[in-house]
Amino acid sequence: MSNPDELLRIEGIRKTFPGVVALDGVDFDLRRGEVHVLLGENGAGKSTLIKMLSGAYHPDEGRVLVDGEEVHIRGAQDAERLGIATIYQEFNLVPDLTVAENIFLGRQPRRLGMIDRKRMEADAEVLLRRVGVNVSPRARVRELGIARLQMVEIAKALSLNARVLIMDEPTAVLTSEEVEKLFAIVRTLREDGVGIVFITHHLEEIAALGDRVTVIRDGKSVGQVPATTPEDELVRLMVGRSIEQQYPREVPEQGAALLTVEGLTRDGVFHDVTFEVHAGEVVGIAGLVGAGRTEVVRAVFGADPYDEGAVKVSGAAVKRHDVNAAMAAGIGLVPEDRKGQGLVLDASVEENLGLVTMRTATRAGLVDLRGQHAAAERIAGQLGVRMAGLGQHVRTLSGGNQQKVVIGKWLLADTRVLILDEPTRGIDVGAKVEIYQLINELTAAGAAVLMISSDLPEVLGMSDRVLVMAQGRIAGELARGEATQDAVMALAVSTPTTETEASRGH
Ligand SMILES: Nc1ncnc2c1ncn2[C@@H]1O[C@H](COP(=O)(O)OP(=O)(O)OP(=O)(O)O)[C@@H](O)[C@H]1O
Ligand SMILES: [Mg+2]
Repeated sequence: MSNPDELLRIEGIRKTFPGVVALDGVDFDLRRGEVHVLLGENGAGKSTLIKMLSGAYHPDEGRVLVDGEEVHIRGAQDAERLGIATIYQEFNLVPDLTVAENIFLGRQPRRLGMIDRKRMEADAEVLLRRVGVNVSPRARVRELGIARLQMVEIAKALSLNARVLIMDEPTAVLTSEEVEKLFAIVRTLREDGVGIVFITHHLEEIAALGDRVTVIRDGKSVGQVPATTPEDELVRLMVGRSIEQQYPREVPEQGAALLTVEGLTRDGVFHDVTFEVHAGEVVGIAGLVGAGRTEVVRAVFGADPYDEGAVKVSGAAVKRHDVNAAMAAGIGLVPEDRKGQGLVLDASVEENLGLVTMRTATRAGLVDLRGQHAAAERIAGQLGVRMAGLGQHVRTLSGGNQQKVVIGKWLLADTRVLILDEPTRGIDVGAKVEIYQLINELTAAGAAVLMISSDLPEVLGMSDRVLVMAQGRIAGELARGEATQDAVMALAVSTPTTETEASRGH
């Protein structure tokens, strides 16, 4: 054995799926007390690689060594015995169980043959405090938001006392505050000698947290570099070329107001939300998590009700709480929770891409199947969806490629008002630029785009105007030129009130 600090080594791993070579000879090693970043485009093979270590998949060829000895990880129990814990990109929790039950699933503490609930909940409480999340061990996982789910996953991994901790895009769904908390936990674990495999598409996290980086391209490891490597060099290794302009916004001539939202209010959630989006315009909505951004756009799309106010497209009122009416008016929504709301996982890429168009076309009485196929082919090509073919089930696409399909299906539909909620979450840097180009094309063709994003550089780089929400209200509006990180943050943490309420003494 060469390095006494080496925990794990992977040599020449190959893995194929029908029609796809996912891994084509990958080498990787992990040392005690380091954060080793796995970097690569959507579909490069990162998740597949780590699934070899958790026992979810088995390599066709190649070896895995733990402490210098070859091992065969046949399932989750083998991984656990070897001290390997994994936090997956797709959450692995059981929605109907409580937080504590999920953390100790299959390992519940027992007393006299019965599950010792008290102890389980007390132990869970300690772990949850350690990750700094304010959630009851008795809460049902179903009721938790996505960030808290992530923290519960981490608590669960900590409970396994792993020597190797694998995290597949843990920061994709976290706010910057939560990311800081997570980094603090990871740093403590590293000091304790744990080896951490960390996957991320946020390049700035690499220098902040990482020690070494292994870059995977098309299923092959193409390089191993220190985490201090400049970002543009990392991008070049990852996508094989450099990226000139990360935010290529081209502002077209603006037309009339397409989307008008007037005094939209849902008691206790959002209040008096008023704004317009014009043809050709990209309006960004910034704000902290919990500011009410997703709630507002879901109401605009008819997915949720509202109590007062109105939504209009080209001046015509859209029936409230009616997704079909919203779609008929030309409104589309790419939701934040793509797995839950955006995709039919056991249908093909083509079927998913056609979901919205089908609905409108069928109602019109004719379905142009050949046209649909050609259109699906075109959009998948433009977005660079990495797949065996249009017939591949969406479930087996990589995380980032699933997200591209959700966006693609709305781009294919004749959407005049496209609402994007965290559109580039989990998307690699190269593919992000492709999505921004498509936003340019849409607005150049006269569509209106409303974009929620927690990625502030993205909001600033792609919006023509930025609305900032705080505590369920629009706290302010910034033009493209005046929108800076500081200006947005100042509004995001402000306490907006309306005059009427101020006079009522709220
Ligand atoms: N069960 C499966 N059946 C068929 N193909 C699969 C399966 N699992 C993964 N693949 C394919 O293997 C390739 C690698 O996917 P993987 O999920 O490892 O990518 P990734 O690097 O994690 O990407 P992302 O950044 O988008 O998460 C993709 O082309 C994917 O479609
Ligand atoms: Mg992945």
